[in-house]
Amino acid sequence: MDILVRPMCEVDLAEVRTIFRVAFGTFIGLPDPEAFSADQEYVFTRWRADPDSALVAEANGVLAGSNFAAHWGSFGFFGPLTVRPELWGQRIAQRLLEPTMDLFAKWGVRDAGLFTFANSPKHIALYQKFGFWPRFLTAIMAKGVERRNAAPLKYSTLSEAGQDQALSACRKLTDSIYDGLDVTSEIRAVKKQSLGDTLLLWGGDSLEGFAVCHCGEGTEAGRDNCYVKFAAIQPGTRAGNAFENLLDACEAFAAERGLGRVQAGVNLNRSQAYRQMLQRGFRTAIQGVAMHRPDSPAYNRPDVFVLDDWR
Ligand SMILES: CC(C)(COP(=O)(O)OP(=O)(O)OC[C@H]1O[C@@H](n2cnc3c(N)ncnc32)[C@H](O)[C@@H]1OP(=O)(O)O)[C@@H](O)C(=O)NCCC(=O)NCCS
Repeated sequence: MDILVRPMCEVDLAEVRTIFRVAFGTFIGLPDPEAFSADQEYVFTRWRADPDSALVAEANGVLAGSNFAAHWGSFGFFGPLTVRPELWGQRIAQRLLEPTMDLFAKWGVRDAGLFTFANSPKHIALYQKFGFWPRFLTAIMAKGVERRNAAPLKYSTLSEAGQDQALSACRKLTDSIYDGLDVTSEIRAVKKQSLGDTLLLWGGDSLEGFAVCHCGEGTEAGRDNCYVKFAAIQPGTRAGNAFENLLDACEAFAAERGLGRVQAGVNLNRSQAYRQMLQRGFRTAIQGVAMHRPDSPAYNRPDVFVLDDWR
């Protein structure tokens, strides 16, 4: 079979999305695989955010699979990686992963990661070939929205100068958790594509925390969900309280948008954050394993208040 890997183009997007749905739907055994995550969008939104980070594979001239990489400063992750089910086991995923590793090298990321099915020997073995090692589980948790007494400041309401200032403050905050971590591309993508908003928690002059949220259908959240794609709290003695305040803000924001649930991922080695989520009534909806390259914690540490899941 003649396999070609190339950058993803706009004309590929509809077919890439169909393969993405059918691949996951088939793997988890849905009766109608194409119905997988029909109310969520990853393909169009991620390509629009950064077309240079998206790859497709063609087998004998036909679209066979795709992969997306994310560049968060000194950290990178990839996914969703999908291959047309009738072509599984023919090394197409590996062909897609080779240039993905080249992207990480080009970006100079120090640590890289991914989220995968903890119960799949195939998935774990595939990623181990590229130097990724399974570490802690990541729980994608959800809870019903209760009305909270919080009026979060929203990035979208700021002036241009205010937005620049907020982006610098977010970058400084994540850098204090993990040297060089920078998710401002996600904040920009949410604003530019109207996917939701970024909530900012200021304590006096400094930023105590922020949450990048996707809202509802056509985003990574899906119907009736406010999905926290990334959130972080400034490290320090007040971090636990600030985390509660940020979760209040997320619930208040979800209510404001008429959404019934807040969803967020937390790595189980971020044990303080995970415990607080449980105490607050979040329950795990989906569970997977975080794989790391190299085999070190990166920012998945017990004292770190970060929400994300690397999907
Ligand atoms: C996961 C997925 C992308 C893999 O694509 P693929 O093209 O079939 O994968 P490849 O053929 O490149 O590689 C699979 C490797 O795993 C190996 N493997 C499979 N089962 C294994 C096992 N039980 N133990 C060890 N290795 C195993 C295969 O032998 C192969 O390696 P080899 O070529 O050296 O023999 C594809 O199955 C898919 O789209 N699944 C649904 C969506 C999904 O799960 N995406 C990934 C989410 S993290």
